[in-house]
Amino acid sequence: MSTHGKKTVGRRLRAVATVATATALVAVPLTLASTAATAAEPHVDNPYAGAKQYVNPTWAATVESAATRAGDATLAAQMRTVARQPTAVWMDRISAIAGNADGNGLKFHLDEALKQKTGSTPLVFNLVIYNLPGRDCFALASNGELPATDAGLARYKTEYIDPIVDLLSDPKYQDLRISATIEPDSLPNLITNMSEATCQQSAPYYREGVKYALDELKTMDNVYTYIDAAHSGWLGWDTNAGPAAKLFADVAKTTKKGFASIDGFVTNTANSTPLAEPFLTDPNKQVGSGQVRSATFYEWNADFGEHAWTAHLHRLLVAEGFPASTGMLIDTSRNGWGGPNRPTAASTSTDLNTYVNESRIDKRVHRGAWCNPLGAGIGELPKATPASAPAAAHLDAYVWIKPPGESDGASKEIPNDQGKSFDRMCDPTFVSPKLANQLTGATPDAPLAGQWFEAQFRTLVRNAFPVIPANGTTPTPTPTATPTATPTVTPTVTPTATPTVTPTATATPTPTPTSGPAACSVRYSANGWSTGFTASVRLTNTGSSALSSWNLRFTLPAGQSVQQGWSAQWTQSGQTVTAANAAWNGTLAPGASVEIGFNGSQTNGTSSPPPASGFTLNGSPCAS
Ligand code: BGC
Repeated sequence: MSTHGKKTVGRRLRAVATVATATALVAVPLTLASTAATAAEPHVDNPYAGAKQYVNPTWAATVESAATRAGDATLAAQMRTVARQPTAVWMDRISAIAGNADGNGLKFHLDEALKQKTGSTPLVFNLVIYNLPGRDCFALASNGELPATDAGLARYKTEYIDPIVDLLSDPKYQDLRISATIEPDSLPNLITNMSEATCQQSAPYYREGVKYALDELKTMDNVYTYIDAAHSGWLGWDTNAGPAAKLFADVAKTTKKGFASIDGFVTNTANSTPLAEPFLTDPNKQVGSGQVRSATFYEWNADFGEHAWTAHLHRLLVAEGFPASTGMLIDTSRNGWGGPNRPTAASTSTDLNTYVNESRIDKRVHRGAWCNPLGAGIGELPKATPASAPAAAHLDAYVWIKPPGESDGASKEIPNDQGKSFDRMCDPTFVSPKLANQLTGATPDAPLAGQWFEAQFRTLVRNAFPVIPANGTTPTPTPTATPTATPTVTPTVTPTATPTVTPTATATPTPTPTSGPAACSVRYSANGWSTGFTASVRLTNTGSSALSSWNLRFTLPAGQSVQQGWSAQWTQSGQTVTAANAAWNGTLAPGASVEIGFNGSQTNGTSSPPPASGFTLNGSPCAS
């Protein structure tokens, strides 16, 4: 296999170099050079092969702590399995290098990584370089601290990349394999979003910033660079894929080492696009009025998943001059799409869109829905050269770049000093023009991008596919049969713009109430538009004893139905809606309240849809 850069010397030592030139102490560099030559392991083709990966102890502790609140033994055990998985460490601003309120610094993690390295087994440390000037030019949720200006670029170089490189080049880390994911979303934005003034302004800084990062990182033989290459639902069309491969080649050619400055590409970073669609294997298959790829959901894009995309991209990259050894990574941290809504067979419909919508495992309203997508699950566990992947995909590994449980963006405005803004793609009540005028499908009540989002984490674990083994035991073979793993939300997929929603009744395992009749009050409010509405329900236990589980029932006015609900298990039969507690909010002390909600559809809708009525809690009427 491959071959780029086998040299073990030439490691850059910024601090030492200064001393050496200033004082001409020949002995210093010689000693270091010989240490490097004897101790450092060579640059290999696939750093993940035969290696372990770094488990971030801070993230793992957060996951462990979520497990103590899981309220369900299987879920808790699955969370503990998740806690042992490797995830990437994001340098998402200058202060992340030294460490800040959101986490420990890079040195802490590198030192921990050394402790995790045992014997001669190599250890891969997944690092994300994410702080370009004008970051996230087509969205708002992850806007960064550096402006798209010359001054922003200067700070990127001297206050961000240089200090990272200084730390990494400490000889004590020379035997860690550092795998750097370079600047998610940046170059892909230059392919599809140049109509946006912000992206036009960012473009030269993205190119120059990525070039600089590659030049500096590739002074170390133990660093492996993977350029972010979006995902199949973004760049899969030939009209995007071709220009993307060309742009990657253009940037590579501007670097000091040319094509050798890039070890590979990473796709699906922080996204939820599946590896493949198991029931839609032939994009050209004719169903009803046309080919499967021509369905609304795919918009003629023949790459339905990441295996297809990495294979497609690899082919184009090699044609542009990249070596065949260029390796691919796929972020599988959130692309599982298991749980009760996962189809188990291809649809039998003869209507093209119905066929596609009933067959696909990707249950987003649109492939552009990137923010905290409701219903997604964790995907494949991190692993090198996955045997189940097609050879043409050229995979080095499945990796978890986005740590599961960290938000993609806030669902409302949250003041912060990181430059992050409110992107309505993260607001579940927003009908987005970028999603063919559909609701975003984002998980409600999300915190700022990067913050821990436990409600989402629970759903990700429950909807994992393959099912997460409970504490390292054998995985359950039939992932759809996970009765305790009902997601908080069970959206029936309604990918058309005006959903005529039949509520899902998949939330079968309604918990049996363990408490008797309840005294309760309910506050119900709803805001609507022509075809839909969002309802919030605040339920208060006004009785004198605690409830250990609850079951709220009510009647919706004619013409209304539940489309997607959250923070409870939602079912509808006729106009009667039942919301049973989720695993984590079943306990309701006297006087305590719980907020649940749903998106509904309505016919002849108004902005103030008529409210639901006849509320009962565990069979007893509530005041409303
Ligand atoms: C955020 C970063 C965060 C990363 C990982 C990004 O969306 O902007 O701040 O470190 O996700 O969660």
